[in-house]
Amino acid sequence: MSRPPFQIDETDGPRLTRAWVVHPDIKSGSGNRLPVNRLAEAVALARALPNLEVVGSEIAPLKTVRAGMLFGSGKIASIKTSLQENDIELVLVDGPVSPVQQRNLEKEWGVKLLDRTGLILEIFSDRAATREGVLQVEMAALSYQRTRLVRAWTHLERQRGGLGFVGGPGETQIEADRRAIDEQLASLKRQLSKVVKTRALHRAARAKIPYPIVALVGYTNAGKSTLFNRLTGAEVMAKDMLFATLDPTMRRVHLPDGPEVILSDTVGFISDLPTELVAAFRATLEEVLAADVVCHVRDISHPETEEQAQDVRDILASLGVEEDRPSFEVWNKLDLLPPEPADAMRARAERDPAVFAISALTGEGIEALLAAVTEKLQGAKRPAEVHLAFSEGKKRAWLFAQELVEEERQTETGFDLSVRWTAEQEAQFERL
Ligand code: GTP
Repeated sequence: MSRPPFQIDETDGPRLTRAWVVHPDIKSGSGNRLPVNRLAEAVALARALPNLEVVGSEIAPLKTVRAGMLFGSGKIASIKTSLQENDIELVLVDGPVSPVQQRNLEKEWGVKLLDRTGLILEIFSDRAATREGVLQVEMAALSYQRTRLVRAWTHLERQRGGLGFVGGPGETQIEADRRAIDEQLASLKRQLSKVVKTRALHRAARAKIPYPIVALVGYTNAGKSTLFNRLTGAEVMAKDMLFATLDPTMRRVHLPDGPEVILSDTVGFISDLPTELVAAFRATLEEVLAADVVCHVRDISHPETEEQAQDVRDILASLGVEEDRPSFEVWNKLDLLPPEPADAMRARAERDPAVFAISALTGEGIEALLAAVTEKLQGAKRPAEVHLAFSEGKKRAWLFAQELVEEERQTETGFDLSVRWTAEQEAQFERL
């Protein structure tokens, strides 16, 4: 199975590649986030790759983007000095870099260059563990590669004066590359649809097991896996590393004084997710779409916790998770706040029934959160299949009177009914 084309060549053992992170501070698109925080996020992203050693980082203010080299000549020279002085082999540019800019900068600096999309693809490809995750990363990488081929081609054509003569050697090669990529994409799509079908079957089978789903979502590094582990006693990788969780992880958990539920840990969200990946990773968030309760885990100690929360809300909305879906905000990492702001958070959470201030690390506030989830679930309806004999007409009438029946099929011995009910209605039915 081929890997994305952005592989960092590390075949000769565990030696670390010395990397330098540059955040181009372009005055657009980055909303109201501070460049220093964006640089910190880019460094954290780079640290998510094993084999990389982030030796240094810097913000490069950019008034205008230069078509050929991205940066102005002064900046290019000063960065080159830093690279040489620090023996750098790889530059990570936290933003989009066109293929032409990449080629020019690599030549000028004498290093390899990866842009933000390339870096995130690298991480995703390193982390993907399930068949579906692997296929999706490969598709995303190929789509990315394909757009770069097209752009390189446009550029070549312009260089030739835009005469557009057909059958030049460059064109033939690029056409062939494109066709090869398209064929590979089509084949990946077929494989993926098989995997997704299998998963849909699993989900359908699970829908018949009457467990409600509780999904943990949140910005990357918010503490979802730590909370998941605390609730399940499972050993999901929880690391101070972005995207430690790529494929959804699910466990059955018995809520104290409540029902058994499926708890699902999901991929961390991030701002400016490359478009190729937004599409590719939609499917890994299917569990969120099917969730009875969504818990939005936030790192409340992060300076940009509000912006992160807004990103998560936007992505949830774009996924089609309706606003009226039962959900909670979980303000995590309370223990990292100084006593006074921590108390203020506790007080704010206290006033809002949809907010819980917790620490996944110390366990503070988790009991209250679980009690609230349990209460929410009592109102949540889930599907079930019921078989009734012809003699059980009274039960059947009760189900219809309560308007719980979605579908009914007559069989040789009685009726098969698809119903949707709450735990309480199910218990009432059992008592009939
Ligand atoms: P992704 O996989 O990137 O989506 O991250 P995640 O949301 O699953 O975060 P994870 O649980 O891996 O936690 C990220 C880091 O925050 C780890 O170093 C955790 O130990 C730390 N962490 C999580 N919860 C808490 C908390 O309540 N307090 C403190 N102090 N640290 C926490």
